[in-house]
Amino acid sequence: MNRRAFLESAACLASAACLSGAEGPLRTHAAAHGLLYGAATAYGPLQNDPDYSAHLAAECNLLVPENVLKWTTVHPAPERFDFVPGDFLAHFAAAHDMRMRGHTLVWHEQLPRWFASTVTKQNARARLEEHIRTVMGHYRGRMHSWDVVNEAIRPQDGRADGLRQTPWLDLLGPEYLEIAYATAAEADPQALAGYNDYGLDYHTPEDEAKRNAVLGLLRRLKKQNVPVQAFGMQAHLSAGRQPTFQPETLRRFLGEVAGLGLKILITELDVSDAGLPDDAESRDRAVAAVYENYLTAALAEPAVVAVLTWGLTDKYTWLASRNRRPDGSPVRVLPLDHEFHRKPAWYAIAKALDTRR
Ligand code: G3I
Repeated sequence: MNRRAFLESAACLASAACLSGAEGPLRTHAAAHGLLYGAATAYGPLQNDPDYSAHLAAECNLLVPENVLKWTTVHPAPERFDFVPGDFLAHFAAAHDMRMRGHTLVWHEQLPRWFASTVTKQNARARLEEHIRTVMGHYRGRMHSWDVVNEAIRPQDGRADGLRQTPWLDLLGPEYLEIAYATAAEADPQALAGYNDYGLDYHTPEDEAKRNAVLGLLRRLKKQNVPVQAFGMQAHLSAGRQPTFQPETLRRFLGEVAGLGLKILITELDVSDAGLPDDAESRDRAVAAVYENYLTAALAEPAVVAVLTWGLTDKYTWLASRNRRPDGSPVRVLPLDHEFHRKPAWYAIAKALDTRR
């Protein structure tokens, strides 16, 4: 199919006439149930791969930058911010009637080289506030939500409050969380201020300990009237590792989060195919089953407002390098394959969205 024909078919997919039944794009399946569907978006491919942009525009009504709003990109020098990549994505989202969310303002990873030599206990609070004010302020009024704090819990670090040992904790103590949310609430009151984390999905002792620690953190924040408004469930899942999944465990956890008055977003859903046999058909079946079971359970919680996969196509996924397959074949972990064809995972997500009441 040439580019023009493809774009016409993408436009058709996004139009009302083409949207009935299973073939409409995921954004329509989601919207029919009051939800948003989106994907983490890679900056390089968005500039260079027209098939990628066309499929993103067709399938998604929510976009989150995979990397370009992290400190290393957006704050490359102590006194310099770079919004060129983020603005490119924001422009793309606006042009295709998509909402956008921000990722992420406070994280122990992707801190630029200058951070360690420049940020001290004396200036850490001012530096954190300045970063949040500047980055959130730049997109003020345009963001659906922000991952204000990302991955702050790690029970293995041995603290009673479950907090991960991070540069921010060393510099400011646990108060860094309150500072971050208070600054975020002022910088962009319209964006939902979220807390985002992973490792919470399975019926295992590790995940249970992390669920308890995350709930403890969220309860403390709410009790102190810290303005956290949303919870991001990353949901990096595995079809090959076969950890025990119990829908009831997931639903109970999401119910407790919702009970705190928080909206919930499934923020980084993907399903690793590491450990599965090479045969693509059986791999696809196993991956799709995980998507469907997980999302069906998660979407039973009325507080869930959005589902995002961490990427849209197997052509661009962090799992390609992380979980390289022994036979060198592409990983098959996202809704669309390497050539942008819909896979069983796509249909599983559509079905789960359709069953949302
Ligand atoms: O852009 C540079 C490029 O200039 C350089 O040549 C190349 C050499 O390694 O690195 C490129 O940067 C990489 C970047 O992705 C863009 O591809 C970084 O090394 C690499 O560490 C970075 O990985 C990202 C990772 O977060 C760390 O930021 C992944 O793409 C991204 O998918 C992953 O996303 C995280 C979420 O933010 C938080 N939750 C977990 C999730 C998966 O790890």
